[in-house]
Amino acid sequence: MKVLVVGGGGREHALVWKLKKSPRVSKIFCAPGNAGIGQLAELVELKDTGISGLADFAEKNRVDLTVVGPEAPLIAGLVDEFEKRGLNVFGPSKAAAELEGSKAFAKAFMDKYSIPTAKYRVFEDASEAQEYVRAIGAPLVVKADGIAAGKGVVVASSEEEAIEAIDKIMVERAFGQSGNKIVIEEKLEGEEATLLAFSDGNMIIPMVSSQDHKAVYDGDKGPNTGGMGAYSPAPIVTSEVMKKAMDDILIPTIEGMKAEGRPYKGVLYAGLMIKDGQLKVLEFNVRFGDPETQVVLPRLKTDIVDIMEAVIQGRLHELELEWDDRLALCVVLASGGYPGSYEIDKPIVGLEELVDLEDITPFHSGTSECHGKIVTSGGRVLGITALGNDVNEARQKAYHSINLLSFEGMHFRKDIGIKALAHM
Ligand SMILES: Nc1ncnc2c1ncn2[C@@H]1O[C@H](COP(=O)(O)OP(=O)(O)O)[C@@H](O)[C@H]1O
Ligand SMILES: [Mg+2]
Repeated sequence: MKVLVVGGGGREHALVWKLKKSPRVSKIFCAPGNAGIGQLAELVELKDTGISGLADFAEKNRVDLTVVGPEAPLIAGLVDEFEKRGLNVFGPSKAAAELEGSKAFAKAFMDKYSIPTAKYRVFEDASEAQEYVRAIGAPLVVKADGIAAGKGVVVASSEEEAIEAIDKIMVERAFGQSGNKIVIEEKLEGEEATLLAFSDGNMIIPMVSSQDHKAVYDGDKGPNTGGMGAYSPAPIVTSEVMKKAMDDILIPTIEGMKAEGRPYKGVLYAGLMIKDGQLKVLEFNVRFGDPETQVVLPRLKTDIVDIMEAVIQGRLHELELEWDDRLALCVVLASGGYPGSYEIDKPIVGLEELVDLEDITPFHSGTSECHGKIVTSGGRVLGITALGNDVNEARQKAYHSINLLSFEGMHFRKDIGIKALAHM
């Protein structure tokens, strides 16, 4: 079958890489893709948010399955448009994608269905929000309601910081319409983990757990990024935690969304805060995570096309997922200056040395091809995933292969996976 993947980051490279392994797939298109994806798929020069252009392309090229990586096209209704045209597509509808598209919607939904999450209030007026902050004091968390490319959340340790954040979101409109409302919530303590799951609208099957590293520097210091690395499984997600996540979060979410007339089909991402075995939802995303996908899919043994088809057709109960028991660890290599401003078009040296390394897969994020050379084109450039029998072995393999790579300004965290050691 012919598959179209929408998006062009590390997550989409991992999706294309996994789809390519399916004996059922004969051809993959990716819009817009990147240099690494270009080695596995035909790149299509279409923006991932140009819904009607993408649907036209899928119709014209008789695409049998479209897989959507990023949130923006899902929230904008890509799936609804494809379904209207009778095209097979993997992902939630616009109504279901509101779980990520509006944090205020997600919080009210969790309240209604008793899904554990931080206490919160929603504001549509900046001065009311600021008054509230002065009344209750810091610490607290200020969140833009809509999507903001991971930049719409401020964990404020002082009142001033919170008030500034409200100004930036609601008055300066740094994220446009996404700042029509804000959510202010209590600051939670604990360790974060990610749980991805497949749902066909009726049932939900969790994937293996993982853990992202959001801050730019070692020891979780410095500003937040799109994610500087990840590993799977996350030992904080014990089998008891997994069971609680299913019973208290994932199953009630799927049943609640069904009851709301917004059946949830696709991948559900639950961002969890865990403390003393108790869980709270930090947020839902309506798609695979980046870089979590780069450590979860390399462990998936089941054909992903079979899973996606079962999701679309509501037959997930027929499937059982099989996983590699090893630990997967991904270290992200970023451009100098990222997550602030950075330069692009730096030649990447050494990629060919990784080709024959066992259990190493380089996933490209911000790369492009220029006169036959691979150059940087984004803040996050590459994610090197290694499989090992334990976290030490996976770390050793990943960092060994990173030593073979370089580009001007390249920086990365040296402590990916270290948190897992604390649980041993
Ligand atoms: N209530 C909270 N308490 C403590 N930290 C939080 C809270 N909400 C969010 N955070 C921190 O901020 C990060 C981003 O928040 P999140 O809700 O995941 O928004 P987004 O991913 O859309 O930016 C989280 O990964 C977490 O580190
Ligand atoms: Mg998040």
